[in-house]
Amino acid sequence: MTAKEIIEKYIAFFEKRGHKRIENAPLVPQNDPTTLFTSSGMQPLVPYLLGKAHPMGKKLVNVQNCFRAVDIDEVGDNRHTTFFRMLGNWSLGDPARNAPQSDAGGYFKKEHLPWIWEFVTKDLKIPISKLYITVFKGYRDIPKDAESEKIWTDILTKEGLDPKERIFFYDTQNWWSRTGEPDKMPVGEPGGPDSEIFFDFETPHTTEYGRKCHPNCQCGRFMEIVNSVFMEYQKQEDGSFKKLPQQNVDHGAGVERLLSAVENQQDIFQTSLFKPIVNAIEQILKSDYKINSRAIRIITDHLIASTFIAANGIIPSNKEQGYILRRLLRRAIRYGKQLGVDKIFTSDIASVIIKNYSDTDSDLTEKEKLIKDLFNEEEKKFAQVIQEGLRRSEKIFEIKTPIKTGLYSKLMQISDKKELFRNIYRNKIPKNILIPIGEIKLATISGEEAFNLYQSFGFPIEMIIELVQEKGLLVDIEAFEKEIEKHQKISKVGAEKKFKGGLADTSEKTIMGHTATHLLHKALRDLLGENVHQTGSNITSERIRFDFNYDKNLAPEQIKKIEEVVKEKIRENLPVHFEMLSLAKAKEIGAIGLFDEKYGQTVKVYFVGPKTKDQRPYSIEFCGGPHVAFTSEIKSFRIIKQENIGKGNRRIYAKVG
Ligand code: SER
Repeated sequence: MTAKEIIEKYIAFFEKRGHKRIENAPLVPQNDPTTLFTSSGMQPLVPYLLGKAHPMGKKLVNVQNCFRAVDIDEVGDNRHTTFFRMLGNWSLGDPARNAPQSDAGGYFKKEHLPWIWEFVTKDLKIPISKLYITVFKGYRDIPKDAESEKIWTDILTKEGLDPKERIFFYDTQNWWSRTGEPDKMPVGEPGGPDSEIFFDFETPHTTEYGRKCHPNCQCGRFMEIVNSVFMEYQKQEDGSFKKLPQQNVDHGAGVERLLSAVENQQDIFQTSLFKPIVNAIEQILKSDYKINSRAIRIITDHLIASTFIAANGIIPSNKEQGYILRRLLRRAIRYGKQLGVDKIFTSDIASVIIKNYSDTDSDLTEKEKLIKDLFNEEEKKFAQVIQEGLRRSEKIFEIKTPIKTGLYSKLMQISDKKELFRNIYRNKIPKNILIPIGEIKLATISGEEAFNLYQSFGFPIEMIIELVQEKGLLVDIEAFEKEIEKHQKISKVGAEKKFKGGLADTSEKTIMGHTATHLLHKALRDLLGENVHQTGSNITSERIRFDFNYDKNLAPEQIKKIEEVVKEKIRENLPVHFEMLSLAKAKEIGAIGLFDEKYGQTVKVYFVGPKTKDQRPYSIEFCGGPHVAFTSEIKSFRIIKQENIGKGNRRIYAKVG
């Protein structure tokens, strides 16, 4: 059974049970400044889980492309990937507890758990003897999920399995929310107990991981393949949990892991989905997977993720999604170098990836040239400096003294290395792994040394952390961040001197330009499609400069049309006002914008056009302002130039007034 067949079977299974298929949301969310990537199927559905009516009804199903940056450092073992596809089905409210039952109504545990068991054991034909179940055992004042326990007991008993041997109970490990366990959730966040199915690879347990093996044991014997979240609680201001007005089901299962179970293949990278890519990489890099599995897994995963991220219009940069893309590509390139590869290779691997995914993600094929050009350009840039950078790092490392091995490996069991390295210097690490200050000093790469590697050779800090780790050394992250800040301040002063009348300028023309930019953004999206969005802008009293993701030249008629629409909106003399809204509300009303700033929970949203009960304003956009009060103040608008700025982005220059 292929990955594609698993996807098709799953969608068909739930469509047959009254679910409507919803679209795969973009991997890079367009209107969500709180998150850089879509990391689960439920993410775009939060307003509906909280009670808003979904246009497609209460039962939904889809397959969602997901990217989890938090897992980057885990990649290299036999199961972690940063990019994966999640099969999801949802019930938005249980009719038994809410509205009267109807065909279009939702469902809850007693329908969902038997369905998912049927899908896994009958449709995917995974042997029941290989499956184990976990259930929420209760945490603080949130009660045990006795209902799921009862349902599983009945299912397993009917199958002739002993529920006592098969069902395991955990507290926070059987709880799911976007921000993790109950104590870490912000006020208002929905979450709930979950129930998971684990697959048993039957590999021997070692006591290094604990006396007895169990589904959540880290020894590698078990793999979680299914997660059914019963999203029924919401965090309150006083830290307690209240039942949501509706009890939802949020089920998610990674296609890659299901395939691993279907094929009883413990190494995800050796399943039928990844094997062709891994084999091609072995050939391109002339390297043997058996010997270099960690490096080849990292290259495989990171280039798959980079391919999908680049296809979403992101280009490598030093900020946000662009930074993650750069980090992934550069890490893959560095592992290539470690394998002794001395040629440009990432775009050749991209071709293999695009071909491999073409049966499910045909848009990659359309963007093949763009993706390969982007990989080539980033790799060429990095290839010029990486060797010298590695040499320079060696020189820095040579004169440091590594921490004693036993102690160091204990330290490295803490998964968030950045936080760990911060805490070491704040003296905030557990007593049993405390290192004497003298040893810390001798093992430390200073902030300045790290900054030089970052600045001169483009080594992302995470790569420096990894290099340092390989030598048993430490790096002073806080001092590194201070260096960055210092550097940014210096460049800012320089920039301010250079651009008198730049973004901070509040001259009349500039204010007009800000509002005109919102009109232009909306007109472009209406004409070219909702995928088009702002990727940058710069407004001076002389002109507006506006960048957006579109890879074709705009025809003269299109330019004319955009000018006409903007001018029409100026003539309509639309009122402009702003409101401070909660992020959730702003997203709910569909505010758009370029989120290259970190917004707090409350955001400023500008409305152009009247906002009444029956009328939606022409434009709703996150923005710091300032803006005109009425659009007629802009007087006129004309596009003076368009440019191709590469990587699928165009730039428009326009004038107002
Ligand atoms: N939201 C849950 C997850 O991401 C289940 O869909 O695992």
